[in-house]
Amino acid sequence: MKGILLAGGSGTRMLPLTASLNKQLLPVYNKPMVYYPLSTLMLAGAREVLVITSPGDRQLFERLLGDGSKLGISIRYAAQERPGGIAEALIIGADFAADERVALALGDNVFYGAGFADCLDRAGRRQEGAAVFACEVEDPERFGIVELDGGGAPVRLVEKPAEPASNLAVTGLYFYDSQAVEIARSLEPSARGELEITDVNQAYLDRGQLRVETLPEDTRWLDTGTHESLLQASTEIMAFEKSRSSLAGSIEETAFRMGLIDRGQLKALAEELKGSDYGRLLLERAVQE
Ligand code: TTP
Repeated sequence: MKGILLAGGSGTRMLPLTASLNKQLLPVYNKPMVYYPLSTLMLAGAREVLVITSPGDRQLFERLLGDGSKLGISIRYAAQERPGGIAEALIIGADFAADERVALALGDNVFYGAGFADCLDRAGRRQEGAAVFACEVEDPERFGIVELDGGGAPVRLVEKPAEPASNLAVTGLYFYDSQAVEIARSLEPSARGELEITDVNQAYLDRGQLRVETLPEDTRWLDTGTHESLLQASTEIMAFEKSRSSLAGSIEETAFRMGLIDRGQLKALAEELKGSDYGRLLLERAVQE
């Protein structure tokens, strides 16, 4: 499966932080936000990743992530001229996907927890159709919601429902087969002028090919798109990492865990960063049995 990481957008809810900085480069505790979705894609099995940024930001991402070789993967870059919607990523990435399955990750969504890898593995084994990942939330009226029947199959997708019939939010990670590109190309922009990812998911639902994976209880999903949620995410990740003495959303640690780099390579990456607590935790991981 290939990975597409969407790291453009307007970031209007984060102004003035995003007046001169790309949102996905802001810190979530001790690492840039984009590390989290990139590690999610690596955990999902992606070995080739396309990072889509706004045109002026590409160099910053290249400086941070390079061509991916240090992580044992390949990273390419593409530009989205203007924030035309999340589903546009599938059109921009059409040549890159080249009829293979893709995992699409939003640049401001953080997932972590012990059971997450198994959940990704389960969803990734299906060759056909689409999979979305749903998470129980307390305020479903703020999210895109999926309603399930008694057997766990999706029956309805609703954007920000006034009277929610379910509290399962659709998170910012989607697995698609090769139909997704054609579906995205056939979409009309919504009232807000965007190609909506919900419309892609609805098309799969209409075809009876949408699967919903509910995140395990031990898996956390954090959206970091507002000032408050960014601060909360930082605080939560800090508490998690300090209590476990381990890292969440670390691209280097994930590369090692997935067998993409060996212990010596992890140690070398950690040495480069050892001036920070982050680097020291990585170094500990590199020497752990
Ligand atoms: P949003 O949070 O929906 O939008 P945004 O990042 O532009 O922020 P705001 O609502 O505050 O203006 O986007 C979700 C993610 O998808 C985020 O990581 C940015 C990315 N994105 C793009 O890269 N291109 C787009 O056209 C859109 C709509 C989002």
